[in-house]
Amino acid sequence: MKVLVTGGAGYIGSHVVRQLGRAGHEVVVFDNLSTGYRWAVTCGELVVGDLADEQALEALFETHRFDAVLHFAANIVVPESVSNPLKYYSNNTRNTLNLLKAIERHRVPHMVFSSTAAVYGMPAETVLTEDLPLAPINPYGASKMMSERMIMDLAAASSLGYVILRYFNVAGANPEGVLGQATPEATHLIKVACECVAGVREGMSVFGTDYDTRDGTCVRDYIHVEDLAKAHVMALDYMARGGESVVLNCGYGRGFTVREVIDVVREQAGVDFPVTETGRRAGDPAALMADNRRITETLGWTPDFDDLATIVRTALAWEKIWQDRKAGS
Ligand code: UFG
Repeated sequence: MKVLVTGGAGYIGSHVVRQLGRAGHEVVVFDNLSTGYRWAVTCGELVVGDLADEQALEALFETHRFDAVLHFAANIVVPESVSNPLKYYSNNTRNTLNLLKAIERHRVPHMVFSSTAAVYGMPAETVLTEDLPLAPINPYGASKMMSERMIMDLAAASSLGYVILRYFNVAGANPEGVLGQATPEATHLIKVACECVAGVREGMSVFGTDYDTRDGTCVRDYIHVEDLAKAHVMALDYMARGGESVVLNCGYGRGFTVREVIDVVREQAGVDFPVTETGRRAGDPAALMADNRRITETLGWTPDFDDLATIVRTALAWEKIWQDRKAGS
């Protein structure tokens, strides 16, 4: 297929682009390089542009006849979405609308959309199915929920087919050390812990130790970025076979506490770093895990890296490569 990947120079998008290339797809990346990198586009063509620019989008769709669009481009920092909500409604929701207008005009048949477990908000359940009511508690989650809705509404009114993937906690890096998370000012747990190991951070905090979980810290479902990337490639194959539009959770269906994650990072790195226990971070649900039966049954997806030590090892290896590269440049 000829595939457009928005945000293909970013963390998750770049891993997907690499797998798409290996699967024989023809890839065009559209990225404004605000948080992505040129070097992260390891196959296909990179077009530098912004989804806010409808003329640039039109030119892109006039130049290429896409069989599918994979839409990753978005801002993803939850606290920032609370302090600057309109940035999220512009860059996530409005830009998705711009993209959908081009998709409609050019009758692109397939779309894969990067959504998030943040659309569920603070559910009473800890293992989440896709049919739960959506109740995001921050603008980031709301911006993604609105995008989901626009995609579904356009699909109902046209021949567009979609796979919406709701990511749980994505971590890890390409095992060959070619790609990984390079976002500055990271807030995600495993990335932050890896930066402590690399010495670019002096220490870190555990946000909340009084949750109703096995050790009092929050439980999350960490999924390796390569397994998540594989789900995207399989979603394309599924749509090409005529599969119905569907929403799928992406996670392993099991969780680790913050303390367990930090212990694994210390173990795998063989070094210690200072960890301070502080109060809860606003908006953190105690425990979130994916019910992943639907993705398993619908796509035939099975993970290859369902092991926290492997996730952490690949993240640590990448952090070293990335810090060395930055120091050398
Ligand atoms: N945490 C710490 N210390 C840190 C960083 C995180 O204790 O320095 C804790 C958090 O409080 C949370 C857990 O580690 O309990 C995981 O936090 P992350 O920030 O890594 O991830 P979140 O679960 O908050 O966020 C993830 C995605 C978001 C998405 C959200 C949906 O990264 O994009 O899940 O619930 F919105």
